[in-house]
Amino acid sequence: MFVFTTHSELRSFLKKQTGSVGLVPTMGALHKGHLSLVQKAAENNNWVLVSIFINPTQFNNANDLAKYPKNMAKDLELLTPYNKKLIVYTPNDSDLYPKAINAKKYDFGSLALHMEGAFRDNHFNGVATVIEALFRNLKPDRAYFGEKDFQQLQIIKALNDQLNLGIKIIGCPIIREIDGIAMSSRNQLLNKKERNAAPIIHQTLQEIAENNGRWDVNYMNHFFKKSVEENFFLRVEYFFVAEEATLIPVSHLKKQNDYRIFVAVNAGKTRLIDTLKLGRI
Ligand code: PAF
Repeated sequence: MFVFTTHSELRSFLKKQTGSVGLVPTMGALHKGHLSLVQKAAENNNWVLVSIFINPTQFNNANDLAKYPKNMAKDLELLTPYNKKLIVYTPNDSDLYPKAINAKKYDFGSLALHMEGAFRDNHFNGVATVIEALFRNLKPDRAYFGEKDFQQLQIIKALNDQLNLGIKIIGCPIIREIDGIAMSSRNQLLNKKERNAAPIIHQTLQEIAENNGRWDVNYMNHFFKKSVEENFFLRVEYFFVAEEATLIPVSHLKKQNDYRIFVAVNAGKTRLIDTLKLGRI
């Protein structure tokens, strides 16, 4: 395993190597979802480059940033099976933000207007700023992102196209615990009661997807809220059904269109998001 804290040292190292580089950008607190991205990158590339950086500009809440889980020693241990082809990049703020720790402004149209774009002020400008810096500084051939953050994935694809960065963006399926909860670094922040309650989120999404074509969007929304909030520890922040291509929420489903459900639920002080594709009606 090769560990670098500056992109200039990392680039000099890579210039002496041959073969393709697959980047897996992370904020650390790695779990099996991240490892599935690392595995995919290892299958497709000569080198896997994992960045571990808690990006301050994508947090709209200082408390959320402060309590974001961190455990570098455990992260490096989880990555050891990939030792031979693995490069880890653990920069400090100034390596990615040489001037000021500010988000740039981007225009992603409807992709950034709803769901996380509406509920987390400036979040996607922060994500795009750090991803642009990672892409420009590290110049990977491919970059891997989980579909759990489906909106983020679409925005990163748009960023890559708008700026002509020429990186192949690869979306990878959500990895879930046996009880259905989507793997997330934030799951570590749940207490036992909240963790026991959380699987109802995915179970309810599945039940809604099974009734697609029979239930309208309004009823889906009502059903989700009722089913999830029956649990004292869970409060729904949003439920949307949106077109997959534009990420614009809809109130009626048309035949031949692809849709996806997007939800955010607060479990105590921890915010969980999830998404599920709806089959065509
Ligand atoms: O999904 C994440 O962990 C972050 O948003 C990312 C893509 C690493 C950017 O900081």
